[in-house]
Amino acid sequence: MKKQITVGVLGCGYWGPLLIRNLRGLPACRLIAVCDLDIARVKHICALYRDIECVTNPQRLITGCDIDAVVIATPVKSHYPLAKASLLAGKHTFIEKPMATSSQECEELIDIAKRNDLVLMVDHTFLYSGPIRKIVEIVEAGDIGEIRYVNSRRLNLGLFQKDINVAWDLAPHDISIILHILGEFPTAINCQGNAHVTPEVEDVTNMSLVFPHKRFATIQSSWLEPRKIREMTIVGSRRMIVYDDLQTHEKIRIYDVRVERPPHYDTFAEFQYSYHYGDSYIPYLQQEEPLTLACRHFIDCIETNSVPMTGGRQGLEMIRILEGASASLKMNGAPFIFGGPNGSTAAPAPIRDGAAHSLEPKRTRREVSRARDRMAAVFEDA
Ligand SMILES: NC(=O)c1ccc[n+]([C@@H]2O[C@H](COP(=O)([O-])OP(=O)(O)OC[C@H]3O[C@@H](n4cnc5c(N)ncnc54)[C@H](O)[C@@H]3O)[C@@H](O)[C@H]2O)c1
Repeated sequence: MKKQITVGVLGCGYWGPLLIRNLRGLPACRLIAVCDLDIARVKHICALYRDIECVTNPQRLITGCDIDAVVIATPVKSHYPLAKASLLAGKHTFIEKPMATSSQECEELIDIAKRNDLVLMVDHTFLYSGPIRKIVEIVEAGDIGEIRYVNSRRLNLGLFQKDINVAWDLAPHDISIILHILGEFPTAINCQGNAHVTPEVEDVTNMSLVFPHKRFATIQSSWLEPRKIREMTIVGSRRMIVYDDLQTHEKIRIYDVRVERPPHYDTFAEFQYSYHYGDSYIPYLQQEEPLTLACRHFIDCIETNSVPMTGGRQGLEMIRILEGASASLKMNGAPFIFGGPNGSTAAPAPIRDGAAHSLEPKRTRREVSRARDRMAAVFEDA
């Protein structure tokens, strides 16, 4: 029988217990220990799972519990020191989103992981969800034509965070989806926002990402809305997709609608826009908890020594965008140009093939598709 990968989880607040439950359900993995600085949280998990070692000292979990991998679900400011300690101790490391508080921190973590041949994965959970996997499939098949823009809204009367603003808390979900679908890094970002409740922690932001080929994406994030909204529209030249994550069964609807200009006309009277109204349809989606697939993918990458679909590189790209958003917020929404004169951010790393250059060796198209194929296999096995 294959040796199980032994794992420890740091952080047992809101999200940690979901990871604990999912990791415990994977046959290829054995959850050995959990840790939280808050003894009440540790006692709670101990009462639920009596066979797990429960500790309150993170260093004790990292170095004293005979584990192969560490999963970090603590507040963002602690991701970097905990991940660094974990990687330096030779443990494969899974970090919750967003990966760290700065791109320098991400680069250092990527470097340590690479030098020590360790798997470093960031939890961009939505990329493991049925709806997003289906949207990627539809986009890659060319069914919606050229993507013209993406519009995303993630709003509700939210859980107020003290150490990060709403853009760093909620927008990572939208950013990860948008980068994955468009397959390229933006050239610029604008972000406006206001802090109404906690001084200097914006609770509402509007950002807009500018991409090559006249494409853009807008992301509205708020902890201050009366209604919960989780909606994304992807407008293509042939079809359009509306993704409503709050729907139970019909999360994606594809609209066969478009508008075209006449190819040629001689007089103004002849000029007519051509509106096409076709059917709309709801594709079948596989139902599986995205976090289960994310955890399984992490364990699978450790077993096969492969690069995760959402590795350190994707975590870094996300942080570069969030840093750009913070810089733009400080300039009252003026554009932050990636690699431009108003930002110290290094030129962005392309996700697939792209024109921008980076110090990071880029994943080749083959590596990206290999990671996706491995994920597809995980999905089929589910
Ligand atoms: N992927 C997702 O969809 C998703 C959803 C929610 C939260 N998250 C992420 O999960 C992480 C945790 O969020 P949360 O909502 O569970 O926060 P939380 O505040 O509810 O829980 C964090 C826990 O970590 C503990 N902690 C703090 N510092 C620690 C340390 N150094 N060592 C050990 N324990 C420590 C705290 O005592 C607390 O119990 C964040 O990074 C957040 O962005 C991701």
